[in-house]
Amino acid sequence: MPATIVIGTQWGDEGKGKLTDLFAKDMRYVVRYQGGHNAGHTIVVGGESFALQLVPSGVLYPHITPVIGNGVVVDPAVLIAECQQLNERGIDTSKLIVSGNSHLIMPYHYELDKLGERMLGRNKLGTTKRGIGPTYADKASRVGLRVQDMLDREIFMQKLEVALREKNAVLTKVYNRLSLDVNEIADLYLNELAPKIAPMVQDTVGIIHDALEDGQNIMLEGAQATFLDLDHGTYPFVTSSNPTAGGACVGAGVGPMHITRVVGIAKSYVTRVGSGPFPTELTDETADILIEKGHEYGTNTGRRRRPGWLDLVMLRHAVRLSSVSEIALTKLDVLSGLADIKVCTSYDIDGVKYDKLPAEQTKFQQAKPIYEQLPGWQKDLGSVKQKSDLPKAALDFINLIEAFTKTKVTFVGVGPGRDQFVPL
Ligand code: IMP
Repeated sequence: MPATIVIGTQWGDEGKGKLTDLFAKDMRYVVRYQGGHNAGHTIVVGGESFALQLVPSGVLYPHITPVIGNGVVVDPAVLIAECQQLNERGIDTSKLIVSGNSHLIMPYHYELDKLGERMLGRNKLGTTKRGIGPTYADKASRVGLRVQDMLDREIFMQKLEVALREKNAVLTKVYNRLSLDVNEIADLYLNELAPKIAPMVQDTVGIIHDALEDGQNIMLEGAQATFLDLDHGTYPFVTSSNPTAGGACVGAGVGPMHITRVVGIAKSYVTRVGSGPFPTELTDETADILIEKGHEYGTNTGRRRRPGWLDLVMLRHAVRLSSVSEIALTKLDVLSGLADIKVCTSYDIDGVKYDKLPAEQTKFQQAKPIYEQLPGWQKDLGSVKQKSDLPKAALDFINLIEAFTKTKVTFVGVGPGRDQFVPL
């Protein structure tokens, strides 16, 4: 039965939280499938703003079971703190379930993330310093600890001792830091955190499949986005997991034949946080307008995002990579008031015109955007509820996106509120 994937089509912060929230009313399960608390989803409900990092956004609905899938990396202290904060604001988190196969972010992962970035110097990736990369690296090296290990003291100690032997050697001999104490970590994870995590640990794959067989609707909620994908993003300036639709199947344990809808979220302009190439990046006064009007500061780290014009070459590539079946366009209201709007439809790379993303990263680094310029509109879109109330110039902008990507735009976001969207 139907499983919907919601993914970001740019470099993150497209407004996935709002869309997942919008679809949530028809869902029974909302599954996070990758990433960790490097993500930040902001959802505004009844004028109240919720910034979620690790807990799936479906948590705000009492009828939904939020699921943290096997592909996610979990800091149990962060998970418990986030649940407590939600509880204090009257949100029930008792239905939240966590895969025992999801990997644990350990204290040494934070250290190694920070030290690795420092070692890279001016070539740093600009990570969120939440230990995400080192945790996924340990997963791939098969020395990671998983959530289920917290439920077995003997296994946990055995694995922790093996891991710490190597981590402490690196911390002390490579980075000249103090070694970490095995008992301190064990005390935190086994005595303090495990009793609180234990009731959440369930067979998430089994539960998801029983629900699918039962005909219930499931949403697979991505964090980060297509061009931060470890395989398909602007490597090495990427995150360490697969936000694209293939990653949703792996990170939730659902085969592709179950997926009936892939919603690609695209912001009406583009932002990126951290380092890496960005052909349509703006540094002029339009950049400041987009940042201030769009409140483009990281939910998590508070960093000012890098803004730029919409890049249709990238968007079309994202559609291809994830079999995106429809586009939800967010923050159209932010473009109101601009005299002209530019949209990138090809690149100039060393005098050659490219209308597709070049396969070589070095070429992409040098890509100069070739723009189509459209007239802007002045109308404030905040209270627009239907397509016929959108200005013609805004409709022309949407039509161009649809024609270029050969994909229908089905929703347009016109403000941060839960009801500020226009169905098309
Ligand atoms: P990491 O995921 O912390 O390893 O960071 C790797 C890259 O992904 C950095 O450029 C981060 O700024 C970026 N990144 C990670 N999570 C997010 C997100 O939720 N939104 C936008 N960028 C992100």
